[in-house]
Amino acid sequence: MTIAPPVRQATSLFLERFGSRPTVLVSAPGRVNLLGEHTDYNGGPVLPFAMEQRTVVAVGPASTWRAVSTLDPDIQDLNPELIERGHWTAYLSGVIRVLGRRGLAPRGASLAVASSVPAGSGLSSSAALTVATARALANLAGHRIPPELAADVAFHAEHDEVGVRCGRMDQTVAARARADHALLFETGTGEVLHHPLASRVWLFDTGVRHRLSGGALNQRRQECEVALGLARELGCRAEALAAIPEADVGDLVRSIPAPWGPRLRHVVTETARTRRAAAALASRDLTTLGRLLVEGHESLRHDFQSSCPEADHLVEGAVELGALGARLTGAGWGGTVIALLPPEREEQIAAELGLRFQAAYGRLPQVWSTRAGPGLRSEK
Ligand code: GLA
Repeated sequence: MTIAPPVRQATSLFLERFGSRPTVLVSAPGRVNLLGEHTDYNGGPVLPFAMEQRTVVAVGPASTWRAVSTLDPDIQDLNPELIERGHWTAYLSGVIRVLGRRGLAPRGASLAVASSVPAGSGLSSSAALTVATARALANLAGHRIPPELAADVAFHAEHDEVGVRCGRMDQTVAARARADHALLFETGTGEVLHHPLASRVWLFDTGVRHRLSGGALNQRRQECEVALGLARELGCRAEALAAIPEADVGDLVRSIPAPWGPRLRHVVTETARTRRAAAALASRDLTTLGRLLVEGHESLRHDFQSSCPEADHLVEGAVELGALGARLTGAGWGGTVIALLPPEREEQIAAELGLRFQAAYGRLPQVWSTRAGPGLRSEK
């Protein structure tokens, strides 16, 4: 995995396809969520960090909209009036529409995208793209937009325009992350705190791909809404699932049938785990953090049912081999397992885990590690 942001690739692609140098270059990172899964659209906390891999968006003035990427080098003419769901340019059109409504869009632009963030791996390549595009296009139109605003534009582009009923975690961390820190984002209040994260985190790609706009996340979100409705019928006063006290979960789950009861239990216990994990990070207690990761994975597996056998295999294997903790990160149903490994044996455990996976599934997983990198920034 390359670590330097692919600025040169974006610049030369732009030059090659559009015949001039780009005016503005912006990059944003992929994200790794340490803990707090499916809490962000339920009013709860999340604890992600920015990975070192980034997406670079190079833009220049034009009278129409056209885009290329290193993965799709043929020029795509964009019509922001028409969102082509399932196509990567939908994210660009979404951003253009949201910026346009806010008076922040240029009249047209050429865009070239290069990325080292793996797509479809639960590492939020889409937020890296929308956040970087939001700032790049606003800058091209002469507006300086702060990270908070870039995150908000990107969120509305994905949620309202592309139609993924996501929360705000991915765009917030892509825009506002700090190097060597994880970000505790309380989605209920909007509060953001940065906690030191010096350790390397290992990533194991299950190779199982999901398509978010395809619906599993939207379905879970709807189940969470039903679960909240059922809890309220039972006299619960919480405004959001994450606001339900942990002590009430046992009674509620006895009265609320599956799948809604277990969905509720996941969100409430995950909320508590995430705050404990943030406290563990603040006191540099990686043992507790690791244990919370494993508990979080169990909850995803059994209560939220968003894991997959390949991820369960990797988490169990990591723990057996001596990891401090491991779990599936991101929306789920495939994607990437993260692991905290003891530094003195990390290479050895990572290699061994890869081999075990190969023995079970007939292919070596993509394995790499990352530290916490910076959020959105302008490039030269
Ligand atoms: C996706 C969404 C996020 C969040 C996670 C699950 O990544 O984009 O907002 O809901 O799933 O934690």
